[in-house]
Amino acid sequence: MRIGIPRESRPGETLVAATAKTASQLAALGYDVVVEQGAGEAADQPDVAFTSAGVKVVPADEVWSSDVVVKVNAPTDDEVGRLRRGATVISLMAPARSPELVERLAAAGVTALAMDAVPRISRAQSMDVLSSMANVAGYRGVIEAAHEFGRLFTGQVTAAGKVPPARVFVVGAGVAGLAAIGAAGSLGAIVRAFDVRPEVAEQVESMGAEFVTVDMEQEVSSDGYAKEMTAEQEAATAAMYDEEARAADIVITTALIPGRPAPLLVTAETVAAMRPGSVVVDMAAANGGNVAATVKDEKVVTANGVTVLGYTDLAGRLAAQTSQLYGTNVVNLLKLLTPAKDGVLTLDMDDVVQRGITVTRDGATMWPPPPVQVSAAPAEATQVLPVEKEPSAPPDPRRRLYAAGLAAVVFLALATLAPPSFLPSLTVFVLAVVIGFYVIGNVHHALHTPLMSVTNAISGIIVVGAILQAPIDNVAVQVIAGVAILLASINVFGGFLVTRRMLNMFQKG
Ligand SMILES: NC(=O)c1ccc[n+]([C@@H]2O[C@H](COP(=O)([O-])OP(=O)(O)OC[C@H]3O[C@@H](n4cnc5c(N)ncnc54)[C@H](O)[C@@H]3O)[C@@H](O)[C@H]2O)c1
Repeated sequence: MRIGIPRESRPGETLVAATAKTASQLAALGYDVVVEQGAGEAADQPDVAFTSAGVKVVPADEVWSSDVVVKVNAPTDDEVGRLRRGATVISLMAPARSPELVERLAAAGVTALAMDAVPRISRAQSMDVLSSMANVAGYRGVIEAAHEFGRLFTGQVTAAGKVPPARVFVVGAGVAGLAAIGAAGSLGAIVRAFDVRPEVAEQVESMGAEFVTVDMEQEVSSDGYAKEMTAEQEAATAAMYDEEARAADIVITTALIPGRPAPLLVTAETVAAMRPGSVVVDMAAANGGNVAATVKDEKVVTANGVTVLGYTDLAGRLAAQTSQLYGTNVVNLLKLLTPAKDGVLTLDMDDVVQRGITVTRDGATMWPPPPVQVSAAPAEATQVLPVEKEPSAPPDPRRRLYAAGLAAVVFLALATLAPPSFLPSLTVFVLAVVIGFYVIGNVHHALHTPLMSVTNAISGIIVVGAILQAPIDNVAVQVIAGVAILLASINVFGGFLVTRRMLNMFQKG
């Protein structure tokens, strides 16, 4: 079969559905791949890159007459008209929001596969184009904010004065939100984030941000997506959004509930109360926006000097990278659809991923697909429930008493039976264990390695002890002393070397 990659017709589009690398990966699946002249120019993929990868660059007509046409944006009316009956078209389609497109595709007698309808299940992650694009967009959202913001993100103490770190507030910790948290944190900002799904708190914290909590009923989502908020939840979060946005230098909003217009979370009054020079990036602009002042695809500067960005092409602003990721998503999908690697596309309607993306099949409407059951609830929650055990019984205080009694008996027995010199050594040992436990337990985990490596120097005591024993006229004692000196010295000097290497990591130049 022939796969055609056309030039995107949407004005200003920078993306292309295949790069030279992914086009040759498609060819490796047995397909004859052709790319329209100039299709990849805006994504740093000139025609020569395709021809050097062994992919043919051809005029548009040859591309549109292919068996399979792969593109980024949904086909326009004209483009649907150029597809031949029985062909397959693969692209973003937003089928839930585009009933007319679904009708047109069915009328054209084609098979249409929507890249943006891949179910969000682990097995389909490598084809999840919404995730790969939202990831790039979240990163780019921070870069756009940094470009507009008149100050540094990172805090510094310089000879010319102290520079405070920027404060970033991210709303919605899905794919785009987490990418924004990561990018803002790595630029040195202090990042706080909120999401209605409480289960993402751990992910937010693992990215180095602080999860903002609100005193309200929050329910773990069953499918990884948020539900619309109740009136009480809306009232409880409104005050928090206002407070957080006023305190922030940068606000990045990504809140989305699939199939619904974006919830309005940051009001005009809040924006009006933000400091001049602050920046708001409303990533939900395409779906109506989370911020009152947003104008889709525009940069707006409010009367109080707050810049509000409503760009909807954030992923396209990193065209080479996004095209590469999109192309890889397409290759992964075609690997699934070409099990024999023989260049023949086959659709298995019993497979939940293939069924999920099929919008029309040979002219028959297949949308919407049956719902896919997934759960985002933590695994333990479902595993723990059936286990029959006493509900959170408090630990029996008598157990501690028994343990203490047993320890006292053992201690008394040792004190009575052991030689007198043993008791002071035992006391020192027990004290060392208790003090060591509390001292090391209070040191931050990140500092355990330097702490332990430098405390290796305590092995110096063993070296001294072994040196004192070495002159004793007994071969066994001399051998043991020699081995002790060797091992303890490795421990001491090795510890200093490790510490030095770690300290070097914090030194510039
Ligand atoms: N501007 C661009 O160029 C661009 C590119 C890609 C994605 N996006 C947009 O970014 C947004 C996020 O995409 P995603 O893939 O990360 O979606 P996602 O579903 O992974 O994340 C959305 C998050 O918003 C949360 N949320 C919903 N309602 C909320 C509320 N009231 N308060 C707080 N959090 C709430 C959800 O729980 C979810 O975690 C979408 O609107 C998407 O269209 C924009």
